[in-house]
Amino acid sequence: MVTKVETGISGLDMMLRGGFPEGRMVLLMGGPGTGKTVFCSQFLHYGATKKGMKTVYISLDETKSDFLQEMLTFGWNFKELEQDNRFTFIDASYVRRIPEEARVGKLRVGGKDLARERLIDSIFKTFEGGRAIDRFIGDLGAQLVVLDSISGLLFRFPEAWEKRQAILDILEALKNIGATCLITSEAISIGEERQVQPEEYLCHGAILLQTLRTGNRVASILKMRGTEVDSAPRPYLIGQTGIEIYAEQSVYKT
Ligand SMILES: Nc1ncnc2c1ncn2[C@@H]1O[C@H](COP(=O)(O)OP(=O)(O)OP(=O)(O)O)[C@@H](O)[C@H]1O
Ligand SMILES: [Mg+2]
Repeated sequence: MVTKVETGISGLDMMLRGGFPEGRMVLLMGGPGTGKTVFCSQFLHYGATKKGMKTVYISLDETKSDFLQEMLTFGWNFKELEQDNRFTFIDASYVRRIPEEARVGKLRVGGKDLARERLIDSIFKTFEGGRAIDRFIGDLGAQLVVLDSISGLLFRFPEAWEKRQAILDILEALKNIGATCLITSEAISIGEERQVQPEEYLCHGAILLQTLRTGNRVASILKMRGTEVDSAPRPYLIGQTGIEIYAEQSVYKT
C-alpha cells in the first residue's frame, strides 16, 4: 500500500485517491499563467500548516520577495512559516541569467560552452549556509520539495539526449533528498496538439493545467505510477483561497 501525501487541493486529492505517492517526483505542466506557482505554494503551505511538515521551495523563476508578496494575496504567510523553520526558500533564479553572469555563489560559471554538469551543479551544489543545496535540504529533513520551473534550464539543451540527461540529473539530485517532490515545466503545444515532453516520461507522475480557448481552466492527471487515479479532465479555478478543482464536474473541450 502506497502512502499518500495530501496536495492541499481537495478536488485533486479525490482524483488522486488521497494524494501524491510519498517520496515520488511529480511533474506539474502548464502554459504561462495556468497557476503552476500557486499550485506548488498551496501544496507546501498545506503541508506546513496542516501537517507540520518541513517544506522547501527552490525557485528558478521568481525572487523571494516577489514570491512572498504574491502568496500573501492568497493569505499564505510564508514568512511566518520560515520563522517557524517549516519553510525554506532557495532562490536559484540566477541560473536564468547564466551565462550573462560570470559567478554563481562561489562557483565560476558562464560562457556559451557552459556544460550540463556545471549548470545542474550550479543549482544543487551552490552553497547555502556553507553547504551544498542538496545536502542542506537533506539536513533540514525536508518532506516536501518544490522545483519551479525547470523550463528555463532545459531550454539550454537543444539536443534531445542532453535534455534528457539534464532531467535525469535533476531527478537524481532530488531523489537523494528523499522528499515528495513537485517539479514544474512549461507545456509545449504545436497548434492544437500538445507535444509530449521527456520530463513527462521520466517523472513518476504528471499533471497538466490548461487554459482552453473559451478561457475555462482544466486540470488532468496524465499519469501516476503505482496508483489508480481519475484521469478525466476536470475544471478548476484560481480564487482568493488558491486553486480549486471540481472533481465531480466534466469538461467538454469543444
Ligand atoms: N490573488 C489571486 N486571486 C485570484 N487569482 C489569482 C491571484 N493571484 C494570481 N491569480 C491568478 O493566477 C495566475 C498566475 O498563476 P501562477 O503565477 O501560479 O501561474 P504560472 O503557471 O506559475 O505562470 P508562469 O508560467 O508565468 O510562471 C494569474 O494569471 C491569475 O489569473
Ligand atoms: Mg510560475
